[in-house]
Amino acid sequence: MQIADVQDIIDHEMLSHDEIVNRIHEVAKQIDKDYAGKTPIVICVLKGAVATYYELTQAMTIPMKMDFMSLSSYGSGFESTGKITVRQDLSYDVAGEDVLIVEDIVDSGNTLHWLVGELNRRGAKSVEIFSLLEKPARHTAKVELKYKGFVIPDEFVLGFGLDYDEEYRNLDSIAVIKPEVYKGANS
Ligand code: PRP
Repeated sequence: MQIADVQDIIDHEMLSHDEIVNRIHEVAKQIDKDYAGKTPIVICVLKGAVATYYELTQAMTIPMKMDFMSLSSYGSGFESTGKITVRQDLSYDVAGEDVLIVEDIVDSGNTLHWLVGELNRRGAKSVEIFSLLEKPARHTAKVELKYKGFVIPDEFVLGFGLDYDEEYRNLDSIAVIKPEVYKGANS
């Protein structure tokens, strides 16, 4: 799905496909250097991180293991509830392992704050994060991002894995939704 396919609900494109992919490939090079000689478990936080995870792992050249975790921090609307629910857990035991978490966005920070704590509780040797997007204006929980793609303003974005009401994750760029679309949906 491309930006022309969603013109009716989009205010503007924030990040093009090429900008996103080029940045992810830069981050992959850095991760290759930082983890040289190691075999990290790279965790995809479903569902939002899938597009970022795909691009990142394809670009990495070091050995790695893939794992997936499904967490939910949002209710049915678009404001974070702060409560984390595990929908699907990891398949690996992370005790003694180097773990790299891949996320699409840090909003309040609640999801990653909880996940880093949980992986440390499980005995991971190291836990680092790559988030494609960061919205500093909305942080309430403290999260250290070793790797990040873009710092963005406090606007409602979708695409490249991010959804609006579970749709538009397959948009190949990141765009700002028209406020009247989600305000209309909530009224
Ligand atoms: C989104 C996003 C992050 C989280 C960020 O996931 O993918 O995991 O919210 O918000 P936070 O910093 O306020 O915790 P969501 O729970 O919507 O699930 P999804 O990835 O399946 O869309």
